[in-house]
Amino acid sequence: MKRKVNLAIVGISQRGSGLLKLLLEMDDVNIVGVCDLYEDRTAAAAKAVVEAGRPAPVATNDYRRLLDLKKLDAVLTPSSWTSHAQILLDTMESGRYAATEVGGATSIQQCWDLVRTSERTGMPCMMLENCCYGRPEMTVLKMIKEGLFGECVHAEGGYRHDLRQEICSGKENRHYRLANYTCRTGDVYTTHELGPIAKYFNINRGNRMVTLCSVASKSVGLNEWSRQHRGPMTKSPAAVSIWVM
Ligand SMILES: NC(=O)c1ccc[n+]([C@@H]2O[C@H](COP(=O)([O-])OP(=O)(O)OC[C@H]3O[C@@H](n4cnc5c(N)ncnc54)[C@H](O)[C@@H]3O)[C@@H](O)[C@H]2O)c1
Repeated sequence: MKRKVNLAIVGISQRGSGLLKLLLEMDDVNIVGVCDLYEDRTAAAAKAVVEAGRPAPVATNDYRRLLDLKKLDAVLTPSSWTSHAQILLDTMESGRYAATEVGGATSIQQCWDLVRTSERTGMPCMMLENCCYGRPEMTVLKMIKEGLFGECVHAEGGYRHDLRQEICSGKENRHYRLANYTCRTGDVYTTHELGPIAKYFNINRGNRMVTLCSVASKSVGLNEWSRQHRGPMTKSPAAVSIWVM
């Protein structure tokens, strides 16, 4: 009989609900738990599971409750960037496989915490960098491996989406990125391009990163969009309440 994976999902908004839909099409996956900080999102996810003809999952806004489930193999977290690391660490500590959407960590300390916890607990922790498996990226990988470009010495890539509306509408959409772009700078979303490039250069497959540097330009684009669509800022920056999730 085909072994089924008992999976819980933590963070079920835009990305999480898309992944849930895909997972519900897989007959070797049981969704045993769903969790979001927002009750309406948790309820919608539980409803989607039942409507797919599956048993009702445990639905909660505290993911730690899901880690108490006896029948749980793995946790997938498509939650906000700053929440991934703790959820992954707790998942591995509970003896379950951990998987995260892009980000996974927001500091070097968190990266080391993930590595050391995985080594100590023996539980794998995977970042789901889908761009590593995209058709164009894999085509280029094959071409590089076949030597079509000779020896590659330089590559560049970027996360080239126009997300100004999504980011600036973060309060209305209850979307986490606004808080990140308000409080953090540098390249906060590197892996869609870095993942495939790392494969092209055999990083961690005999080659390795020696230095890493992150820079950012002035946030002209977001400020301009905001002024055009929301009008001029009426409060001084110090008085703007920072909403972090
Ligand atoms: N791989 C891709 O191509 C791709 C595309 C889109 C988004 N993403 C990633 O997916 C993740 C989610 O993106 P989104 O657009 O759905 O964001 P979103 O802000 O709409 O949703 C995040 C959800 O996580 C929930 N959450 C946060 N902390 C939580 C916690 N501790 N416990 C339970 N729930 C928690 C929030 O309540 C929210 O509903 C991000 O990491 C994003 O980078 C990846």
